[in-house]
Amino acid sequence: MNSAELGKFGVEPQRQRGLTKLIDTSHRRPMNLADVLPWENTIDKSVAPKEPTHCWLYGTSFYDNFSEQQKSELLWLQTARDVSMFITLEQTLPVLYMGYINKYGSEIPKDITEYLMIFSKEEIVHTMMFKRYLKKAELPMYSGDAAIKNLLGRLPDMPPIMGVLYTLILEWVAELGALYSTQGDNIEPLTKKMFYEHHVDEARHISFGKWLCESHIKNASAEQRKAIIEMVSPMIKRLLPAFSYNPEIARYTSFDFPISPDDKEVHEAIRNSQSNQALNEKRFAPLTRWIVEQGLYED
Ligand SMILES: [Fe+2]
Ligand SMILES: [Fe+2]
Repeated sequence: MNSAELGKFGVEPQRQRGLTKLIDTSHRRPMNLADVLPWENTIDKSVAPKEPTHCWLYGTSFYDNFSEQQKSELLWLQTARDVSMFITLEQTLPVLYMGYINKYGSEIPKDITEYLMIFSKEEIVHTMMFKRYLKKAELPMYSGDAAIKNLLGRLPDMPPIMGVLYTLILEWVAELGALYSTQGDNIEPLTKKMFYEHHVDEARHISFGKWLCESHIKNASAEQRKAIIEMVSPMIKRLLPAFSYNPEIARYTSFDFPISPDDKEVHEAIRNSQSNQALNEKRFAPLTRWIVEQGLYED
């Protein structure tokens, strides 16, 4: 066991009460798969699962050529991508966080250990909820972004604080992206409630991740901080635009999709469309603000 790599793995003293409250709330309000959503209700796929103006292709020359039915299908397939992204990420987290507990044992403060267990348990329930939703809505599971999958595979070998930081960023992007587009009055109710109920737990996960990272960054040497910036800054620059368009959608449409999965130039143009840039600026603002505040962003 190399406990030096654990570094400062805790929260600042002024956060201690917050952490106790997170633990307490999580135990008092656990998500129960059987009744978290009204599973007996039908999902009406003629109702939008997300804001139509948040369609990946909105405002591009492709958009106007789709029929209304095709536009609706695209929204559902984009929701499938969001749900798939949560599944891919969240089914790796229990392994990662329980791995820290097994590896570092009592060197991790007791309350942090307890929250890592709660976190793991909650992600397992979330993953089951998302899988059940995909099945009920007859939506495909995306195989996912290769770079993200590669990163997830490497996390267990990194210092735990980097595992926590990468997890925080990935979860926060997925969470802000999903919530921003699904909580309006006109959204399909089961989909809307699913993202809301997930958010209730995720808001705690995000606070926990932020507190651990803030404490570490504050205590980091200049050299350690530089190493973090070198990992985080390029990741943010790639991850946020990538969220705006996943070429895999072409595999799932019931009609001939006009954009080839290999046409990287067009994918980049869509990701940088005016609509997607404006959307990213708004929906990811809390994350980008935090990254800048922590001094982790480099132009
Ligand atoms: Fe989750
Ligand atoms: Fe989470």
